[in-house]
Amino acid sequence: MRLDKLLEQENFGSRRHVRALIRSKQVRIDGKIVIDESQSVEPAIQEILVKDQRLQEPLHVYYMLNKPQGVVTAVRDATHTTVIDLIAPKDQRKGLYPVGRLDRDTEGLLLLTDNGQLGYQLLLPHKKVLKRYEVIVNGVLTEADRLAFAQGIVFVGGETCKSAELQILAAKAGHSHAYLDITEGKFHQVKKMFLSVGKKVTYLKRLSMGPIQLDETLEAGQYRPLNTTELQALKPYFTIHKKERV
Ligand code: URA
Repeated sequence: MRLDKLLEQENFGSRRHVRALIRSKQVRIDGKIVIDESQSVEPAIQEILVKDQRLQEPLHVYYMLNKPQGVVTAVRDATHTTVIDLIAPKDQRKGLYPVGRLDRDTEGLLLLTDNGQLGYQLLLPHKKVLKRYEVIVNGVLTEADRLAFAQGIVFVGGETCKSAELQILAAKAGHSHAYLDITEGKFHQVKKMFLSVGKKVTYLKRLSMGPIQLDETLEAGQYRPLNTTELQALKPYFTIHKKERV
């Protein structure tokens, strides 16, 4: 958002007044005086000082949820509880939505935000955001499976997956335990990848998405706002343009 628009919205005065404030060198962003009112800013990851007073009110919310099984990744659903239903009324925002999708029986890390731009950037295929999943499958995972994942699984029908890293943690007769790192987000991708090597996923949990790791102190169904370190780590996905039009 433009700096002058943001300050006006945050009650620092009329657009004319905040422009005068900026031009009289009373606004600093990350320690530097700014004199261009059209500069684009993102208060979640920048320190904005107006006459040495820090802009407090975050424009957007960013939550990490430990999604439990049985809840659907949707904003609304006629029959099932949705991930948005798990957010307390005081934390609800217009436009709050889940970034990407986990199946109803998948648990783990889900980011929720009302910043559509950030969610969009994180899901762009060419950004190749890495997602780590913990997986339990029936059957014994082998070195041949690891190589097949590394080479790129091909689904029945010809759709190909990018190279993925399978780390086998334990492989016994009845089941195997592994981590899988993928950089795509195809529909039911992990389950379909394992089916392609003849194994059925019996448990699936997302542990990370890009630089954000699931906070293991969150019980299933709990959420918390991203902290400053996490927001800073997401910086490459925030779109901050030099100049914005009004
Ligand atoms: N892949 C799947 O198959 N399911 C999920 O929920 C996420 C990734």
